[in-house]
Amino acid sequence: MPPYAGDLAADVNVLLAAHRCEITREHVPRVAREAVALARRFGVDPGAARTAAWLHDVGGIVRRADMVALCESLGVAVVPEERQVPMLLHARISVALARGRYGVTDAATLQAIRVHTTLHAEPTPLDLVVFLADKLEWDQGGIPPYHAELSAALDGGLMAGARWMLTWMASPQANLLIPHPELRAAWAAFGVIPPA
Ligand SMILES: [Fe+2]
Ligand SMILES: [Fe+2]
Repeated sequence: MPPYAGDLAADVNVLLAAHRCEITREHVPRVAREAVALARRFGVDPGAARTAAWLHDVGGIVRRADMVALCESLGVAVVPEERQVPMLLHARISVALARGRYGVTDAATLQAIRVHTTLHAEPTPLDLVVFLADKLEWDQGGIPPYHAELSAALDGGLMAGARWMLTWMASPQANLLIPHPELRAAWAAFGVIPPA
């Protein structure tokens, strides 16, 4: 890997291309645009939102089969759900790269990267911005089926948007492989009934 030259967007683009992460490479700039727009709309630091959004999925450059071992070597505690679905660890690896390669030290930015998939019990506005931008600009092709409803829920604010999204994630449509403990904590905190 060549050293980081200081242009975040350009470097992430090159890194994802070098690892043939084409879906993520197309997804990340959309998330960054959306995160900055949400940040401006809801009074969150757009610079932190931009940094977190550009870096949120960079951990995806690591092969799924290597994710558990890498996290263990980094001293990250791996929970059983992450052993079962190692892709859940991509956000942890994104945090390690944000720190190690990109020199991000801001705890709030690193936390927003870490919880972008699952959220957690006490999300900050920055956590909510990155989580919701990632969901509005998903990486599953086309416009997500919930886009209009989530956008409408966001008219009630970031917490209302997050509650709507978490409720959708508990529905059969979400087809979740396994709920991460932090997602279960978010459901409990937002009063969302978890799937049976
Ligand atoms: Fe992700
Ligand atoms: Fe993403």
